[in-house]
Amino acid sequence: MILLSAKVIAIANQKGGVGKTTTTLNLAAALALLGQRVLAMDLDPHANASVHLSLFPETLEVTAYDLFHAQQADGALFSRLIKTGLSGGFDFVPGHIRLSELEVDLRDRENKGLILTQALTLLRDRYDYVLVDCPPHVGVLLVNAIVASDMVLIPIQTDFLALYGIRLLFDTIRLLNKVLPHAVRYRALATMYDQRTAACRKILRLMRDKLGARVFTTVIHFDTKFRESSAGGKVIFEVDPKARGAREYMQLAKEMLANENA
Ligand SMILES: Nc1ncnc2c1ncn2[C@@H]1O[C@H](COP(=O)(O)OP(=O)(O)O)[C@@H](O)[C@H]1O
Ligand SMILES: [Mg+2]
Repeated sequence: MILLSAKVIAIANQKGGVGKTTTTLNLAAALALLGQRVLAMDLDPHANASVHLSLFPETLEVTAYDLFHAQQADGALFSRLIKTGLSGGFDFVPGHIRLSELEVDLRDRENKGLILTQALTLLRDRYDYVLVDCPPHVGVLLVNAIVASDMVLIPIQTDFLALYGIRLLFDTIRLLNKVLPHAVRYRALATMYDQRTAACRKILRLMRDKLGARVFTTVIHFDTKFRESSAGGKVIFEVDPKARGAREYMQLAKEMLANENA
């Protein structure tokens, strides 16, 4: 099947440190290596994904913050906003700490949950995938990302406390399901898995029991190469394409493409 329109994937979990940014960047790179046209967006005020790619928000003229402020996103804004020619092989919209001000700035804006959806209509034929790195809290940005998405990808760090974190996200999804014309599609991804640890094995079992086929078959194991690559401003494929983490994000990309074409 030829994709005529970008699939938008929101990478979300209200818990921090579970692998959202790592998944956004490395899945984007894997999809790009497979020949997909990919745009990644940083909607987290911490702007970790941007810094990871050596795009320092304070030095940038426009960021995702401006996208949410524009009354009408247009081609001219996107051409200033979208960074191309990056080493990961995908295009990128940087974030900014001021994204955290949007809660207040957009207080009186009509249809404020649809800003990203509307903006992306202009881009849907330019990309096969748009991956959105979400902030770790409920708010206007997370709602925009979920509303715009075809799928919410929930990275779950395979330890005990991480499972509690997703309750909040499911509450948000349930709430949105009441107002959206279709139910939010979501899939869970086990991250930082260590099969030697009983707690990890237990959480993965629990995830599969509770969420069944919604859990990706691919499991991302703990791999120190991720720290190394983020410290060096690279995706794992540039640091060590043979690393386990690289192979697993490639496997995840293939699993997604296979599901798409099924
Ligand atoms: N599979 C993994 N194995 C080892 N370290 C990882 C893995 N995934 C992410 N990390 C590291 O864990 C930290 C948090 O990951 P990150 O993707 O920034 O989480 P989030 O965006 O959810 O806050 C980072 O230092 C990252 O390099
Ligand atoms: Mg992050």
